[in-house]
Amino acid sequence: MKTVHTIAEIQAAVAACKAEGKTVGFVPTMGNLHGGHLTLVEKAQEVCDIVVVSIYVNPLQFGPNEDYDSYPRTMEQDQQLLIEQGVDLLYTAQTTEIYPEGSEHHTHVSVEVLDGMHCGKSRPGFFTGIATVVTKLFNIVRPDVAVFGEKDFQQLAIIRKMAKDMCMPVSIVGAPIARENTGLAMSSRNGYLTREEREEIAPTLYRCLQSAREAILAGERDYDLLRRDAFAKMAQAGFKPDYFNISSTNTLLPAGPEDQQLVILAAGYLGKARLIDNITVEL
Ligand code: PAJ
Repeated sequence: MKTVHTIAEIQAAVAACKAEGKTVGFVPTMGNLHGGHLTLVEKAQEVCDIVVVSIYVNPLQFGPNEDYDSYPRTMEQDQQLLIEQGVDLLYTAQTTEIYPEGSEHHTHVSVEVLDGMHCGKSRPGFFTGIATVVTKLFNIVRPDVAVFGEKDFQQLAIIRKMAKDMCMPVSIVGAPIARENTGLAMSSRNGYLTREEREEIAPTLYRCLQSAREAILAGERDYDLLRRDAFAKMAQAGFKPDYFNISSTNTLLPAGPEDQQLVILAAGYLGKARLIDNITVEL
């Protein structure tokens, strides 16, 4: 695996691959890699000749009181995992090149409507930060395919919409959620949890999603009731619930009884972490 740090280097490396007729798959990440990131790499390897991974903790997607400074940075360990996974190129983007003008960076990408719901409500500017950096990374790397995890369901929907609305020449591919044995969705932020929080409390988030899904499959259509029920269960387990929304998969708007394809999206605060998860339901 070749590791490069600059825009010029990654562009030259990708151009050399393309000159050989190879297709380029891309997996953008913020590092502190885990099994979830590696399944994205596998997916990219299935559909492309070479795979580029980027590691960049993007300051623009962190709010003023969020964990930008403490976000785990584990470059050596990440490099090792990517080598073992057979990744071709690692691009470690640098803020001096991504936002060279600091607060004079005036161009942002916002995916309206989708960015105001769910996580966007609790984290203003979050999705603009993501859409902006992903646009930049796409323009730098110019991949044929980019893979994103369904773990961040709203992020995936926003990237798909952005790529479509802006005619970006890249196919967006989704990859399923990788979970720990307890059912907890893998996340770099799980490292903020104590052992007890991680093993005993955090997995209840997925259990709440599963039981709402089962209730819907058994015929329950009072989604507000399911929502209140899940909030109570999350709080009882030790979470400070943020949201638990039963939505249409296509629009992410609140689902009505006529919707057949649903996604249940949930978020909650636990100790030092904010955890999110989701589950789909097909009626
Ligand atoms: P990060 O949280 O590092 O995640 C990188 C990619 O891994 C995202 O597409 C995310 O959905 C996926 N991922 C994380 N946990 C997963 C899991 N348990 N199962 C499957 N996929 C998982 O998401 C970001 O970084 C950033 O917002 C980024 C897109 C890189 C822009 O800065």
